[in-house]
Amino acid sequence: MSFYPGKVIITGEHSVVYGHKALLSALSLGVTCDAESGLELVNHAIADPYLKHILQLCSRELEVRDIETTLVLKITSTLPAKSGLGSSAAVAAAVITAVFEYYGRHLSSAKLYPLVLEAEQYVHGRSSGADPSIVVHGGSLLFQQGVATPLESDFLAKQTFALVDSGAATESTGEMVAVVAHHPEREALIVAIGAVSEAIVSQLQQGKYPVSLIRENHLLLARLGVVGAAAQDIIEQLWRMGIVAKITGAGGKTSGSGFILAWHEDSVFLREQVNRLGVSTIITQLGNNRGKHNEN
Ligand code: MEV
Repeated sequence: MSFYPGKVIITGEHSVVYGHKALLSALSLGVTCDAESGLELVNHAIADPYLKHILQLCSRELEVRDIETTLVLKITSTLPAKSGLGSSAAVAAAVITAVFEYYGRHLSSAKLYPLVLEAEQYVHGRSSGADPSIVVHGGSLLFQQGVATPLESDFLAKQTFALVDSGAATESTGEMVAVVAHHPEREALIVAIGAVSEAIVSQLQQGKYPVSLIRENHLLLARLGVVGAAAQDIIEQLWRMGIVAKITGAGGKTSGSGFILAWHEDSVFLREQVNRLGVSTIITQLGNNRGKHNEN
């Protein structure tokens, strides 16, 4: 049995694809996978192209043939898909670990990371590696150009956040990355987000939640074209309530933009206010979770 958490991006989505720093935290929600022998009549692993791709990768690495017809995978997820919460990376990490475990092979985080990254390229097209990194390592970390560094501050882990659902994105992460790639002002906007991210990280390391910088980050993401009308409407309502909010993850244009990350220093007030929105909300701590499997 393996478990890997989902994630939020505090700052740096999209700009991380262009080599800038991102700050990510693991969620307590995540994906569990158990691999058992036997072939079920309806084997979801065969039906789902992403899972098929992950199992082919396992086959190659383990040098074992026909994994998809040998194993039954029991996958349970508490993470909504297409919502910016790292579900595809968490599925890959949980499945790969459970399959390796079934064949008696232990995978260190260092060995698991490139496999999750490879799996993710299937859905992302051009993954920066940020999602695979936080899902595999857990906690809160800074990620830049393939290098992950744990955040040297427990300030974030002590805060309470609300994840407010703006609806699942119609577009895949890869499609949203492509929207940014074709944006006429991409270079300037990405550089601006990179600078804002540096400032956000510095403030958080000093134990301050950088309210106006987070707002600026969101406005730059909106200018990049990754925030849909539904998410923008909820975020403006939150801002009017005095709650700091931004999209987290790839975003979405035509329907929802996934979950919105919302913070207020008073967690009781935060809870009361987000409840007034009448949309699905998760109240959570960040950065307190790590993946696990049977050998731990
Ligand atoms: C997706 O969670 C984050 C993006 O920056 C894509 C990536 O980093 O690969 C949009």
